[in-house]
Amino acid sequence: MCGIVGFIGQRQAAPVLMEGLEKLSYRGYDSAGIAVLDERGKLLIRKEEGRIENLRSVLVKKPANGCAGIGHTRWATHGKPSRLNAHPHTDEKGRIAVVHNGIIENHEDIRRKLGVSCISQTDTEVIAHLLGALYDGDMQHTLLRAMKELKGSYALAVLCETEPEKLFCARQQSPLVMGFSADSGEGHIASDIPALIRHTRDVLILHDGEAGVVTREGMRVVNADGAACHHPLFHVGWDEASAEKGGFAHFMLKEIHEQPQALRDTFACRKGDWLPISKQEAQDMQMVTLAACGTAYHAALYGAYVLEKLARIRARAEIASEYRYRDVPVSENEWFVAVSQSGETADTLAALQKAKAMGMRTLAVCNVVGSGMARETQALCTHAGPEMAVASTKAYLTQVQMFLMMAITLGGMRGVISPAEAEERWRQMSLLPELATRTLQTHAQIERFVSRLQGCEHVFFIGRGLDYALAMEGALKLKEVSYVFSEAYAAGEMKHGPIALLEKGRLVAACITQEKLADKMISNLQEARARGAQVLAVCTEGLAERVRPHADECVVIPDADEYTAPMLAAIPLQLFAYSMAVARGCDVDKPRNLAKSVTVEEW
Ligand code: M6R
Repeated sequence: MCGIVGFIGQRQAAPVLMEGLEKLSYRGYDSAGIAVLDERGKLLIRKEEGRIENLRSVLVKKPANGCAGIGHTRWATHGKPSRLNAHPHTDEKGRIAVVHNGIIENHEDIRRKLGVSCISQTDTEVIAHLLGALYDGDMQHTLLRAMKELKGSYALAVLCETEPEKLFCARQQSPLVMGFSADSGEGHIASDIPALIRHTRDVLILHDGEAGVVTREGMRVVNADGAACHHPLFHVGWDEASAEKGGFAHFMLKEIHEQPQALRDTFACRKGDWLPISKQEAQDMQMVTLAACGTAYHAALYGAYVLEKLARIRARAEIASEYRYRDVPVSENEWFVAVSQSGETADTLAALQKAKAMGMRTLAVCNVVGSGMARETQALCTHAGPEMAVASTKAYLTQVQMFLMMAITLGGMRGVISPAEAEERWRQMSLLPELATRTLQTHAQIERFVSRLQGCEHVFFIGRGLDYALAMEGALKLKEVSYVFSEAYAAGEMKHGPIALLEKGRLVAACITQEKLADKMISNLQEARARGAQVLAVCTEGLAERVRPHADECVVIPDADEYTAPMLAAIPLQLFAYSMAVARGCDVDKPRNLAKSVTVEEW
């Protein structure tokens, strides 16, 4: 998740590019850069680590004058945030500049094939070298040839010294739009509409596999075969503020909708030796402790389940703020994994430091390359992109996915799951983006249900097995954004106390994705209704017929295997929390008393 802008016109490009980057800073902000073609047709590159203001200061000292340029604001995925890794990147001769959003899965293979040495740690630099190697005097055509070699998801903008009157772009599974104003003779490229809404409200949305060119006279798009495409222009009706949220009312909703892409991008990291654990270490592994706070702790609970089940390793999830003060005996060959969206949470960082001091082997699962935890130990980075809403949604889902990836890989290395089973698990995971997209369609049903839930102030989330970990996340999401009192219980525990609280006016939200536990869950629903509570059930298609008669509302998610179904079921729970918050007039993206990143112990 980074931001791309491009401009060609009669006025200076740098101020237009900088304004566009400011508008896109919500997409990533660990470094930024621009490339401008000066009046002699030479590429001028300016880039800087940190926020966009830092790049602005560089431009004050070292202006980049010219009327065509491209720019980028980065959210690091390959290579830490630094000036060297900031985009644009250039080919060996320095005549072609490229900015890129997304992930090139086969960048190592291309680098080897081209025999080039890169100066950055990014996958993007390889694209610039590839374009340089293939260049045949027509960059649009060259882009089409390069796209046949690139694997992964990408949006690209390209500037080329030998074709100074043109801006080029291409798209594969990562958004990119173009705009042109005949009045001013200006052309624009952007990864997101907010960057160009000031200049034009009629945009051309590039499709997968297409390459575009923008000049001072107009724009042109071709498909993978080089045939011209004539897409109708899309008229943007939103104002600037909602455009930053991609037309969604809140960042939380936007981020919920970004989950299919986040799952796709995180899945793409699984190649070669993606897990920094050797076969011997995997086989020797006796125990894994996963420590985290809040939502990340719920992802850790899921992680402990799947590590036990698929990799046959003893595993436990720990609340980091407790773990750091406990006196826990450490076993031989015990590993410690810190889990955190931000990678900066003080308690989790302290727990990680303690584990290191106790001699444990450590890893971090986090969403921010170059964060405190990623500097402290080797990090497995989720590719959720920047999360702006305080309530974590897409980071949670990709953490869960990362643990499933870890469990399958370790299970294979330890010889406890067969290659055929591992293959089936990967296949199921590859279906997730599509199934998640379908699950998002439950929003309207959930909104209708919420509108009927007048005066509900107590919600009990219940589940069994992996669904219990999910229920805990559902309860946290609801309380933090809607301020409705909510608690999660392992469904089998209800009869040991919590059932005393059930009466008319209470809601029980039940997560039912585990076939073998479904009958037990249905008994819990009957018990709840017998005491006057309402029941909201979230279950898979295959279980719907059995569950529906026992629920006041039954939200059905697509069928999936036992490991991925709870991931899909998280989506209706997020939408439920979101809809409740909206219905109650809460400040959804910035709930009271909370901060996105808790970097001090008490505050
Ligand atoms: O950045 P982290 O994942 O370490 O943050 C941990 C918690 O503070 C965080 O998950 C918090 O619970 C969120 N507000 C949940 O939506």
